[in-house]
Amino acid sequence: MKILILPDPAAAVARCAQIIAQTLTETPQAVLGLATGGTMEPVYADLVRRAEAGEVSLERMTSFNLDEYVGLPPEHPQSYHTYMAERLFGPLGLDPARTHLPRGDAEDPATEAARYDAAIGQAGGIDLQLLGIGGNGHIGFNEPSSSLASPTRVKTLTSATREANARFFGPDETVPRFAITMGIATILRSRRAVLLATGASKASAVAAMVEGPLSARCPASALQLHPSATVVLDTEAAAELELRQYYETVHPKGQEVMLG
Ligand code: F6R
Repeated sequence: MKILILPDPAAAVARCAQIIAQTLTETPQAVLGLATGGTMEPVYADLVRRAEAGEVSLERMTSFNLDEYVGLPPEHPQSYHTYMAERLFGPLGLDPARTHLPRGDAEDPATEAARYDAAIGQAGGIDLQLLGIGGNGHIGFNEPSSSLASPTRVKTLTSATREANARFFGPDETVPRFAITMGIATILRSRRAVLLATGASKASAVAAMVEGPLSARCPASALQLHPSATVVLDTEAAAELELRQYYETVHPKGQEVMLG
């Protein structure tokens, strides 16, 4: 794992956006795996800014989002379809045929999950998978106890996740109990993964992911098995890493270093 520690959340977001932009510059038709949540909002704002400035184009990429709430149709204001449409796909006028999310309103969510997993394979697999992390160590909606070999499937959300995500829903709305999520095996098949975490609320999950045992207790620890995983952190999210000094020596201020 490559651990990049940036001085503040804005620098971590910019570093993450830079990695995505660089991938698209090298491979304009790349297949991106995308995440939602509060952490990703400034990343998408940064990408929109870069695209509008002509620094990068997302027009030829294909994307597959990690997850969607079961029961929410795409047009629901709290669906991840809407999240992506408002923050990235709409502002850049991207071709909807190239942007994919699981259908939360599918008649049979289990069949939809299997179809989605197969569609990722048919697209050639994911070149760059963007990830956030839950305070409980989830990636996508692979909650603790998820099989580290899981395919895309329906998962029951923990009460911790539903409480954390209640902030996106109105006071009279209930956070859905289930989601379709890319599985951990699906995520591990990506050719490169970049996980962004900012803020003190992620510090213990980050430490468990990077330095803890490989365990379904912290699903993100499965990234220890990924051949090319980069973890981009601000100092607060990095606060509980025991080997922090080492990471900062290898990548001063989160930069790449060349041998020699
Ligand atoms: C959502 C997803 C989740 C979030 C995680 C962190 O697509 O993949 O794993 O990345 O719940 O969410 P925030 O950024 O809101 O703390």
